[in-house]
Amino acid sequence: MARPLLCLALLCTSLAFTTCAGIRLELTHVDAKEHYTVEERVRRATERTHRRLASMGGVTAPIHWGGQSQYIAEYLIGDPPQRAEAIIDTGSNLIWTQCSRCRPTCFRQNLPYYDPSRSRAARAVGCNDAACALGSETQCLSDNKTCAVVTGYGAGNIAGTLATENLTFQSETVSLVFGCIVVTKLSPGSLNGASGIIGLGRGKLSLPSQLGDTRFSYCLTPYFEDTIEPSHMVVGASAGLINGSASSTPVTTVPFVRSPSDDPFSTFYYLPLTGITAGKVKLAVPSAAFDLRQVAPGMWTGTFIDSGAPLTSLVDVAYQALRAELARQLGAALVQPLAGTTGFDLCVALKDAERLVPPLVLHFGGGSGTGTDLVVPPANYWAPVDSATACMVVFSSVDRKSLPMNETTVIGNYMQQNMHVLYDLAGGVLSFQPADCSSI
Ligand SMILES: *[C@@H]1O[C@H](CO)[C@@H](O)[C@H](O)[C@H]1NC(C)=O
Ligand SMILES: *[C@@H]1O[C@H](CO)[C@@H](O)[C@H](O)[C@H]1NC(C)=O
Ligand SMILES: *[C@@H]1O[C@H](CO)[C@@H](O)[C@H](O)[C@H]1NC(C)=O
Ligand SMILES: *[C@@H]1O[C@H](CO)[C@@H](O)[C@H](O)[C@H]1NC(C)=O
Repeated sequence: MARPLLCLALLCTSLAFTTCAGIRLELTHVDAKEHYTVEERVRRATERTHRRLASMGGVTAPIHWGGQSQYIAEYLIGDPPQRAEAIIDTGSNLIWTQCSRCRPTCFRQNLPYYDPSRSRAARAVGCNDAACALGSETQCLSDNKTCAVVTGYGAGNIAGTLATENLTFQSETVSLVFGCIVVTKLSPGSLNGASGIIGLGRGKLSLPSQLGDTRFSYCLTPYFEDTIEPSHMVVGASAGLINGSASSTPVTTVPFVRSPSDDPFSTFYYLPLTGITAGKVKLAVPSAAFDLRQVAPGMWTGTFIDSGAPLTSLVDVAYQALRAELARQLGAALVQPLAGTTGFDLCVALKDAERLVPPLVLHFGGGSGTGTDLVVPPANYWAPVDSATACMVVFSSVDRKSLPMNETTVIGNYMQQNMHVLYDLAGGVLSFQPADCSSI
């Protein structure tokens, strides 16, 4: 409903310059780029997840943190262009980058800070501009002129002003509304050297919403591959799965659960998870444990998919059932990880992992027939934690301490490796298709 408004107010002119096919982004894996070993990568992903979980404690405002993802897109901002790097986050909306005025309250980033005074295309968005009324992230300052942006994540807050700029993704340039951020109070290392975030959530300021696009897709290359191929993401009409005669790979198609209208978390892409099977055994967890539900006025929990969360966390009743069932199946093969690796309580010898750990099947409701089961191979929920040991890297939501996140199931990006994931917002469905993302 609001999308045409934004298009009319801001984008129709610039959209005329873009092709209909959509924009492409190439995503690099931060840890791969910095040549960490396998053990270091797991430790870093776990630290980031725990930092994220830990910092959720005590937060009552609508907070979501998407800043810990390992997948980063490079783009250009301004005319003439300046380089920037952003984490790709389906768990938030705002597109933002640190601006040169942020010093000294910004965090360290790999690239120089974006300097709006060096760009012919930079324009401040005023309070009277339609864009200032588009998101819960925006507010008019007391001077009645400046449109400010303020957003909270689990790891802290950011603030700045709303502006428009030319952003260039590979060869496409589009004019977008973004946050020029001058205060970043995030826990150290949160963004791993990126300059900001590109939000892909349901909100009106997200990249797909601003482009007026109703589909996007990505294929995330594995964390632990020696060859470092970039991942790809497409926003727009050409987003899709592998199709045609060459592909007989099964596609899982799941309807999104409609977000409640008064839900401050309606940023999120909720899914109708109904149950989980480990190997051949269906876990005895009531499907209601995963349902979207209100837990306090205006506060909702449920199950959503998040490209900006590294690891999956399950609502505690499901986590306990999964842990118990895998412990039963793995029996004598279970080992203690080497000293110094903490936070994992279900581990086997590395050589046993591929052979003994069963796949998971996530069962989704609301669709038709058999196409709504998603098979999660062992490599998408177990990881090597040292040179001899692999452990389950799924956590309990209770690690997050407070509502609503302590009762929310989040499907993180580790579980989405080597799959095409297509968000079809007009069709109201999410599709998964196993793929070798490195070869695309
Ligand atoms: C980029 O910005 C310039 C102003 O410097 C403007 O003339 C141009 O049309 C913009 N390009 C796009 C594709 O929006
Ligand atoms: C801003 O607008 C409000 C309401 O229109 C008005 O009461 C207030 O005086 C204005 N503030 C300034 C600084 O102009
Ligand atoms: C794949 O192709 C079939 C027909 O060839 C079409 O119906 C379907 O929509 C396509 N799927 C995607 C995701 O493009
Ligand atoms: C989640 O946190 C709230 C307090 O914010 C607490 O009352 C509730 O029992 C917690 N839920 C679980 C499953 O631990």
